[in-house]
Amino acid sequence: MKVLTTKGAFRSALAEARAGGQSVGLVPTMGALHAGHLSLIDAARERCGLVAVTIFVNPLQFGDDTDFNAYPRRLQEDVACCESAGVGVVFAPSENETYPAGRSGTSVVPGPLASRLEGASRPGHFVGVTTIVTKLLSLADGCVAFFGEKDFQQLVIVRQLVDDLDLPAEIVGCPTVREPDGLAMSSRNRRLAPADREAAGSLWRSLVAGRDAVAGGERDPQVVASAMEKVLGEQQAVVTDYAAVADPLDLSPLETIGGEVRLLVAARVGSVRLIDNISARPAA
Ligand code: PAJ
Repeated sequence: MKVLTTKGAFRSALAEARAGGQSVGLVPTMGALHAGHLSLIDAARERCGLVAVTIFVNPLQFGDDTDFNAYPRRLQEDVACCESAGVGVVFAPSENETYPAGRSGTSVVPGPLASRLEGASRPGHFVGVTTIVTKLLSLADGCVAFFGEKDFQQLVIVRQLVDDLDLPAEIVGCPTVREPDGLAMSSRNRRLAPADREAAGSLWRSLVAGRDAVAGGERDPQVVASAMEKVLGEQQAVVTDYAAVADPLDLSPLETIGGEVRLLVAARVGSVRLIDNISARPAA
């Protein structure tokens, strides 16, 4: 396995693999790898000849420096984890290598979806995501890129980015990997105080309540959202940010539920902000 830190070496390694007839599977991450990331690596290995994992804590997508600085960094463990997962290339550039023009250089501005839901709570977040993803997909120059449904709005925005800017990549969405109580795996879970860990499971329970309401024939998105909010509200440690029912393709708001929908929640549990989502559909 190669561990590369310069854009030139990364571009060449992938070009060489493609020239040798290998397809490239790209897994962009910010490191602190867990089973959720590993599921993307597995999906990439199944589909592609060479798996490339990028590890970069992207300052552009963080609202403030405190959050950015608090983000876990464990490159050595991540590299070992990639090695045993059959990864061919790890790309772990420095901030200066990634953004030689600094943090105020050219950025890629996503469409209006980026101002809703997560975008409303985290202004500028998705500009940071689309900027780094554009750079990584340009460097890869022809790949299948794997993203988790865990960050469903990010997945939709990345699909739009690739379509709108004709980037040379196919985007594959992968299911969310969960703890036994349903909590979606996330590097932020480690920051949950032990007393808040149980309460964190209420995000999943609220999604299940929403899914049950939809399956049970509820057609009013407001009623479904209220059912989700009610479950979140039962926990003192949980402060709900949003509980939403949206179109599964573009996350636009719905007047009524007629087919598959996406349910999305965001909440602060103690000092940690968590998000989750699930598909729901009326019973046939
Ligand atoms: P990060 O949070 O490290 O996540 C990297 C990828 O892993 C994302 O596609 C995310 O959706 C996926 N992922 C995280 N938890 C998951 C889980 N429990 N199950 C399945 N997939 C999961 O998302 C980012 O980094 C960044 O925004 C990035 C795209 C790398 C751009 O900086």
